[in-house]
Amino acid sequence: MKVTNLDERIHVLDSESNVMTVIKNIAMSGLQEEAFYVLDIGDIVQKHKIWKEKLPRVEPYYAVKCNDNLIVIEVLAALGINFDCASKNEINKVLSFGVESSRIIFANPAKPASHIRHAAAVGVDTMTVDNESELHKIKKLFPTAKIVLRIRCDAEMAQCPLGMKFGCDPIHEAPNLLHLAYNLGLNIVGFSFHVGSGCQDPPVFYRAIHHCKILFDMATDLGFKPYLLDLGGGYPGNKGTSIDKIAEIINKALDEYFNTDAVHVIAEPGRFYVASAFTLATSIHSKRSIRGDENSNAITHNMYYINDGVYGSFNCLLYDHQHVTPIPLKNGCGKMIPSSVWGPTCDGLDKIVENIMLNDMELGEWMIFENMGAYTLPVASPFNGFPIPKVHIVADEDIWLLLKDALPLTEDHFVIGNTPANLRLGLDIGGNDIDPWRDTHPMELAPPEILTDTSNTPSHFIFEYVEAPLN
Ligand SMILES: Cc1ncc(COP(=O)(O)O)c(C=O)c1O
Repeated sequence: MKVTNLDERIHVLDSESNVMTVIKNIAMSGLQEEAFYVLDIGDIVQKHKIWKEKLPRVEPYYAVKCNDNLIVIEVLAALGINFDCASKNEINKVLSFGVESSRIIFANPAKPASHIRHAAAVGVDTMTVDNESELHKIKKLFPTAKIVLRIRCDAEMAQCPLGMKFGCDPIHEAPNLLHLAYNLGLNIVGFSFHVGSGCQDPPVFYRAIHHCKILFDMATDLGFKPYLLDLGGGYPGNKGTSIDKIAEIINKALDEYFNTDAVHVIAEPGRFYVASAFTLATSIHSKRSIRGDENSNAITHNMYYINDGVYGSFNCLLYDHQHVTPIPLKNGCGKMIPSSVWGPTCDGLDKIVENIMLNDMELGEWMIFENMGAYTLPVASPFNGFPIPKVHIVADEDIWLLLKDALPLTEDHFVIGNTPANLRLGLDIGGNDIDPWRDTHPMELAPPEILTDTSNTPSHFIFEYVEAPLN
């Protein structure tokens, strides 16, 4: 596929560069005001290596809902990963990259009729179900579909539990659904579960796989020929987390209950593949310093207002129950001050971090947030007119060599010898203007002193507007 938008290409970094140097280059260019992401393709490739090493029997179907960035989908497709789609649009997005329909599972147990018809039309024939009415719907709209019965088996602790919405009871409901499917002449090909996103209870996978084993036997006795076991999601993906314990338990349960090549084992990881690949850079555009009582003029609390918030990327605080930690781009010095960090909208709900100790920071300084790849961008809105941050994509040279000819990626997807910061300036490697729509006289964003690295020099801008004496 030909890539025309230069901003959506993957920048191949030299050996001196990495995500942080790229962030610094862009942030310190003096022209960047808006928040932006850096997406590290190497991080996704590394995750896939870990998956293959730890869960060699389990074929990943990436959950597109988690982050539907086009390059992410292309990179995963190039790595041979399959896809879990929740809707007609997600199916179309994946198909548009030339991925065959057999590499997609329609893993939403409650599907609008038109989406089922569409899946039938484009050949996405494997889909999950957890209730009677969905079986009747499929009987009418797509009777030859390969049906995966989703059971409920909840982790005792999970960031986002899902069992209250999806999954039939494996003991009381699943047998009845199997009988109904049999009477309707439908094709049950296997069983799935989702223990909850951000699972903190690895042994739950053992319990769930055991339930599936019992149901496999029951389905076989009824006359079905089940061959698919789908382990859903639940795998952590932040920096410093590991799937080792979960993998150990899954592998043990598979050895015990499904020790046969006749059963195809898949999973639907989302968070695992993308969480740590995205780093968000935000800048402080406003600040309120709360001071002590009449006797003390000392600052007791700093409130920082940054250019992304809970209506944008940080919707993950509300919907995905994430906790985020700002990392100042510039090494701070001096006293640590109790601080809070707020988004840019006029809503009081738009609070990112409540109580954190930070060095005194100035307007124009940058705060970095790691692990921002899961359930952030696809949910973000431009509420109050604040734009959704742009994504700059980078990869090391060895990643470029690995992926440059792996379809749907091509040489055209990569930019060599040019940096995202240069592109931000609208220049190509030869210094030519590459963006004809760019304003030839860029707007002056702020007094230059608040955008440069002036660690110890107080800014006049700050002094004038924030630090003015109280009386
Ligand atoms: C059906 C389904 N599969 C996979 C996932 C992805 O799971 P995770 O967020 O744990 O990676 C989800 C997330 O909600 C889901 O609903």
